Order: sequence, then C-alpha cells, then structure tokens
Amino acid sequence: MRWSMIATWKMSYDGVKKGTCLLKDNKSAKEAVLEAIHEVEKNENYHSVGYSGLPNEQGVVQCDAGFMDGETLQAGAVGALEDVVHAVDVAYECSKGRFNNVLVGEGANEFASSLGIKKETMLTKESYEKYLQRKEEKLPLSSYDGHDTVGMVALDQQGHLVSATSTSGLFMKKKGRIGDSPLIGSGFYCDDEAGGAAATGVGEEIMRGCLSYEAVRRMKEGMSAQQAASSTVYEWTEKMILKKGYCDAISLICMNVQGEVGIGTNIKFAFVCADENHEPQVFVAIPDGKDIILRAYDDHQDHLD
Ligand code: GLY
Repeated sequence: MRWSMIATWKMSYDGVKKGTCLLKDNKSAKEAVLEAIHEVEKNENYHSVGYSGLPNEQGVVQCDAGFMDGETLQAGAVGALEDVVHAVDVAYECSKGRFNNVLVGEGANEFASSLGIKKETMLTKESYEKYLQRKEEKLPLSSYDGHDTVGMVALDQQGHLVSATSTSGLFMKKKGRIGDSPLIGSGFYCDDEAGGAAATGVGEEIMRGCLSYEAVRRMKEGMSAQQAASSTVYEWTEKMILKKGYCDAISLICMNVQGEVGIGTNIKFAFVCADENHEPQVFVAIPDGKDIILRAYDDHQDHLD
C-alpha cells in the first residue's frame, strides 16, 4: 500500500523526514503528522509556530492548532493557548472525546495542564526583540513574510488520512484572536472517503471560505488533488477581489485518498512532500492565472521558510 505526506513551508522539511520514516515503518498517519509538527513547534528558528513564535500586541505568544482523523472524522482544536510548545498535542487530545472538541484561552490551558503538559516560556530573546522593534515602528498589521502556519496531511499504509495545523498566528494580533488554523473546515479538514487539506496564510481570508473543507469536497466530487487545490484558491481569490478589491495571502495543500497531492496558492509558496517513491523535497509553487507553476526550491533565489 502506498503512503504519502505533504506539508506547508520549507520549515517542515526536517519534520517530514521524521514523519516519512514512521510511514515507511507502517506507523499511522497520526503518529507521522504529530512527530513532524513537533519538529517545527520546538525549533526556535521558526517564529510563526510554537516555541519562539511571535507574540500578540500585548507581547504574549498565543498558539492555535487543529487535528483531524480521516477515518473517524474526529476533530479537535485549541485557540489562544499559552505556554505550551506542542499545541498540536492538545488539539489531538481534544479530538478524542464526544464533547469539548474545541477549547480556547484559559479553558485550553487548563485542559493542557490536566494532561500533565508542563508550562514553558514561549517567548525567546529574539522573538521579544522583534516584538519591541515592531512596537516601536507602529506599523499596521500585515500578513506574514515568507512563512506562517505549519499544516500537514499524511496517508498511511492502512489507507487512513490525517490533517493537522499549528501556529502562533498573526504577529501583533489582538489578545484572543484566532485564525483559520483551529477552525475545522477552514484551516484543516480530512475524510478517508475524499481526501485531506490544510491551509496557511491570512486566517480571516481563509475562514470566510471554509477553504480546507471546500477543497476536500471538490476531491470527493471527482477533482484531482491539484485541480481541487488550485481551483479553490483561484476562485476564492477572484471572489474576494470582486467583493472587496483585494485578497490576502492564501495557500492550500491537498491530498486525495490515493496519496496524490495538489497545491493552490495566490502567493509564492514553499512546501515539502514525499511518498514511497520520493524522498522529502522542498518545492516552490507560483500562481500563474488559474494554473500553478511548480519547481524545486532554490536556496539562492527563494527566501521562504
Ligand atoms: N493562518 C494563521 C493565522 O491566520 O493565524
């Protein structure tokens, strides 16, 4: 049976390498995705996810994460979670029950503590300095520069799909603001009968289109993963431009039940993928009208984490 994995941004590369070792060893998509996201969450060089994430306007790192199992359709999420490096673990734990699948703020923190997860200081010297500098500059909120949410979809050798996300969200956001990443159907969605998707970009733009669900729905109706991803992003971008004159950054990764992958994006976007015939590799996707141009990542000309 084949296995496959896809993840947003170049920062996912080390995690995907670990995750694909698990998939090769016949471990579950759940184990592969959690392991792979942990790698990004704990890496202090990435300022948009987990430890050393960039803070909100009060200087506090508040993280969002989501997890969905395509076999059972169980889904869980946390929003505005503080002092926890592996927010995706808390989202996964939330997905297990009949109730309380989505927890935010203090409730999410209390739940994390009840799981025995120890509190960690999330703000590093470097992310705090970036915060002070940004405060000084008094710039308006803007979308990310080069990277954002880590989102992943994996198919294991049992034919099960999982999708998940983790992010520290928009830099200088309001306290309590959550983006698309913890919203089922917006930042992530997954169904073994159709496919899986995860999003990165400006949460407000992604959530009003429920874009991960929309892409999975298109795969269920017979579109390839590539058609589903690119048509979802292209049509939404056109619609937003028509409605309000602009569309913020949106990128989607998709995988169908055969493990074939697809990308939709309205910006230059890096992603990592691998399957039983291909080692993990970083690619760049560039929008070109309704189409997407894909090529290997080039360290000299591409500066996208
Ligand atoms: N996509 C992450 C966010 O908007 O917070």
